[in-house]
Amino acid sequence: MAARDPHRFINELDDAALERLVARLESRAQDEAFARLLDKYLTHLAIPPAARVLEVGCGTGAVLRSLARRGDFNGQAVGVDQCRTFVETASRFAQAEHVDDRLTFKVGDAHHLDFPTASFDVVIAHTLISHVTAPLAVLSEMARVVRPGGSVVIFDGDYASLTYAFADHDFGNRMDAALANATFNNPRVMRDLPRLLPELGLRLVAGWGDAVVEIGRGSYFKSFAETYVPYVKRAGGLPEHSVEIWLDAQRQAIANGTFFAACNYYTYLARRV
Ligand SMILES: C[S@@+](CC[C@H](N)C(=O)[O-])C[C@H]1O[C@@H](n2cnc3c(N)ncnc32)[C@H](O)[C@@H]1O
Repeated sequence: MAARDPHRFINELDDAALERLVARLESRAQDEAFARLLDKYLTHLAIPPAARVLEVGCGTGAVLRSLARRGDFNGQAVGVDQCRTFVETASRFAQAEHVDDRLTFKVGDAHHLDFPTASFDVVIAHTLISHVTAPLAVLSEMARVVRPGGSVVIFDGDYASLTYAFADHDFGNRMDAALANATFNNPRVMRDLPRLLPELGLRLVAGWGDAVVEIGRGSYFKSFAETYVPYVKRAGGLPEHSVEIWLDAQRQAIANGTFFAACNYYTYLARRV
């Protein structure tokens, strides 16, 4: 099945598809579980008040706006994304929240960062690394632009663990795999990081996992299914009619309170040696 990760090929999407992704990123940032996971690593990091922070693959800037809202951060943060629409949206949202004096957003490619070596105290990739063309090249750029002793944070899903309940277990398995493979260029990359980070001069300081689970109610995973089912259909590995039956079953399960979906998310905090 061909992977056509929408976040990797974002500059080929039409305006309607981009609008759906903007809405999805913003609604995920409001989701209680995701807000808690972000807060957990920001608290653990204890970013110095005047730090210079970079987020690669910043999307609509939701992560940096959360950082700017924290009482313990008065530094400057830069967000880089390959998508001009996202960068413009991020700047607009930051202005609307009156945090634009501390946040700047720029178009750029995470594989070739346009910053000098050792120019940031903290570099963050929040659900970026699963989407990029070459994860090792992106990690190596993150390691380059952080100063010695500075922190690198990588947060992302292990999409090989993504699962929805479906009465036909065999089709359910195939659908889980199809969703992961059609939407993520690197669905299993988070398992590789403990091995890859030391090769890049990054010492793993802490790493942990959290399951994001929705039982009975479905919000994040409802939007996930509705956003990405079209990409599964386009990939063409499963009969469209069966994919529709699966999606209807998920909607019905949400309506009658019997829904179940889950995915593991991992956080790695590393220090530049
Ligand atoms: C799932 S979104 C995450 C956005 C943001 N970090 C958040 O959590 O709200 C992934 C983002 O990575 C961006 N992206 C993917 N590949 C990129 C690359 N090579 N360089 C810069 N940005 C990239 C996409 O445009 C998209 O905005």
